[in-house]
Amino acid sequence: TERLGKVWNEEMSFLMLGSRLRKVVSNYQAMNKYGVKVPSIIGVSNETKRSGPQLLCQLKEKVEVTTLTPDLQPFSSMLWATQLPSKQLTSDLGPYKSCAVVASAGSLHGSKLGKEIDSHDAVLRFNAAPTNGYEKDVGLKTTIRLINSQVMASEEHRFLSSSLYSSGVLVAWDPAPFSADLIQWYNKTDYPIFTQYQRYRRLHPQQPFYILHPRFEWQAWQRIQDNMAEPIQKNPPSSGFLGIILMMSLCEVVHVYEFLPSQRKTELCHYYQRFYDAACTLGAYHPLLYEKNLVKRMNQGSDRDIYTHGRVTLPGFSKLNC
Ligand code: C5P
Repeated sequence: TERLGKVWNEEMSFLMLGSRLRKVVSNYQAMNKYGVKVPSIIGVSNETKRSGPQLLCQLKEKVEVTTLTPDLQPFSSMLWATQLPSKQLTSDLGPYKSCAVVASAGSLHGSKLGKEIDSHDAVLRFNAAPTNGYEKDVGLKTTIRLINSQVMASEEHRFLSSSLYSSGVLVAWDPAPFSADLIQWYNKTDYPIFTQYQRYRRLHPQQPFYILHPRFEWQAWQRIQDNMAEPIQKNPPSSGFLGIILMMSLCEVVHVYEFLPSQRKTELCHYYQRFYDAACTLGAYHPLLYEKNLVKRMNQGSDRDIYTHGRVTLPGFSKLNC
């Protein structure tokens, strides 16, 4: 199995993974399902490595949280496009003073972080992560839920009928071709995000529900690759990383819980399921290992915070002087 240091080592690399994960990751690095185009010279050497503050400014400058609006081609000519919010998520929501991002890691189990998480002005959760029955560890407030198209489409999640999804603001995303051309994406989504979106909107017309522009996920991917000395998986970043950037766009300060594992680190994938796989924490499909390296470098809190609370502190983009 994989060895992690006391807290996340920001120099984590492919070679530090166990042989099973290495095989899976190198398959994904080679596959390029989404047609990612990178210049032949990739990544950075150690001399040109950006500092945490430089990374933060680069994210603020080059990654824009954009959502689909009814005026965008090809949606503007479709009747259902009126179901899309007319304004950008970033102009409808916030600004919030303090925000919590709750990664769904198994290490939240037994953390007793619920009160602390709920003390934030806004809380972001992911996919099928429940609060019922887990309040002590993860809290009960859900301001925004970021979901992927697989959760929206798979039978087991009962996306259309489960009460899990019916409170707070929903934000959905789907892995799109790298070109982020909306027409190409519309004709080739990974999962049927648009049909599920339309169905859900008919059932819950009052609940705010945004769809992320695929440009956002690939801009975020580019920041990760540009700051890594080795090739990363040519797949979109994890929901966790996308959610962190989303909240940095809405909040003055963002606390991220158990994205960088605490002393409770475990191969238990999610706090709400009895499923064990180191890939959940280290990444297989997603370039999660590299996302964590960047978040570790940008962290403005202490290593102790990571160790005891699994807590990372990041400034909101509005608070940066770049
Ligand atoms: O599995 P899911 O995508 O719903 O989890 C939400 C996010 O939390 C992931 O995208 C990942 O960034 C993070 N996560 C993690 N370690 C885990 C489980 C989830 O870092 N064991």
